Amino acid sequence: MSVLRGKKILLGITAGIAAYKTASLVRLFIKLGAEVKVIMTPASKDFITPLTLSTLSKNPVYSTFYDKEDENELWNNHVDLGLWADYMLIAPATANTLSKMANGTCNNLLLATYLSAKCPVYFAPAMDLDMYKHSSTKESLDKLQSFRNVMIPATSGELASGLVGEGRMAEPQDIVSFIEKDVLSKLPLKGKKILITAGPTYEAIDPVRFIGNYSSGKMGFAIAKTAANLGAEVFLISGPSHQQIQHSLVKRIDVVSADEMYEAAHQYYNEVDIAILSAAVADYKPKNIASQKIKKKDVALEIKLSPTKDILASLGKIKQHQFLVGFALETNNELENAKKKLKKKNLDAIVLNSLQDKGAGFATDTNKITIIDKNLNQKSFKLKSKVAVAKDIINEIVNKINA
Ligand code: CTP
Repeated sequence: MSVLRGKKILLGITAGIAAYKTASLVRLFIKLGAEVKVIMTPASKDFITPLTLSTLSKNPVYSTFYDKEDENELWNNHVDLGLWADYMLIAPATANTLSKMANGTCNNLLLATYLSAKCPVYFAPAMDLDMYKHSSTKESLDKLQSFRNVMIPATSGELASGLVGEGRMAEPQDIVSFIEKDVLSKLPLKGKKILITAGPTYEAIDPVRFIGNYSSGKMGFAIAKTAANLGAEVFLISGPSHQQIQHSLVKRIDVVSADEMYEAAHQYYNEVDIAILSAAVADYKPKNIASQKIKKKDVALEIKLSPTKDILASLGKIKQHQFLVGFALETNNELENAKKKLKKKNLDAIVLNSLQDKGAGFATDTNKITIIDKNLNQKSFKLKSKVAVAKDIINEIVNKINA
């Protein structure tokens, strides 16, 4: 799966002959599952039509601050466009546009959007060889890179002028591969390994019965996916759960009981940088598992339970370099109890969800959390989808490990 899947890409097209290649560029992004919006400088429309690009991108194409033919004269808001994008790409980027970008000129919608954009900006120069070599162009290229824009260098070959040399825009497929590689290499969890526990555990009573709980695994699976999307290699140790996950960076290890989860977690713990224990592990298990199905009788049945091993506490004890995160599901004295658990289990952070909050906890699609770190700083979040909560948790961890 491409890192660009689901990403919003703003493609700025300027007036170079290579503009005709942007039709393929848009197609390639769309094929990878990205969403594309196009802004054209007015002069670039001489090289490729907005109709082609809007058809391929399935979005309107913008080129002026407002459309004179539109009775409502709706304003094309450059700030909104700039904020919409996850990545902006200017291709082809002519010497004229590069010079304006380097100097903060914004006399068209594309330039104004570039100045407003907060996302990473890539640019693919395209011009004749002597223009590419010119000191003023070189100055623009250096300046733009010093502003942390990323250049996708022009290549050598035959140019529109008939001359041969450096200045050809990189081929659409190479532009896409360049951006994918660059995005991957800059992911905040690139090179990190994370252990995540998720779901319930089932503690067998006899061959057909068990003690379990209502945990669905949704929270842990959402955390695993978020971490993998940010470049982490994830070991997801899951109790019985219907959740599915398909990601090349996630290795799913299925377990059933607390003992099995304990073994698996200890097996991977040494090699990970971060461990997030979101599983709802049974605190007790039947002391003896009946080897045959227990027969119904007319008297009360007593099952003796013994405590399971606390995986989180055990990992806290043997912790070396790992950033260890636990969960606390509380019904009363929430903050106090969570802080106690944080200290007792030697955690770096704890995620508290209170069962008193509507929509939080087990088997729901939403959750409401407070994250407390080892210095007892706490941050509360609003009720959100578990996917959004997973992003908050991972962002907090990224901030803390980079602090
Ligand atoms: N946990 C664990 N192994 C266990 C029990 C809990 O790893 N055998 C982890 C959970 O995954 C979670 C945290 O510990 O991260 C939650 O602990 P919790 O069960 O709420 O607290 P307990 O220490 O069991 O205390 P209590 O049940 O009394 O609230």
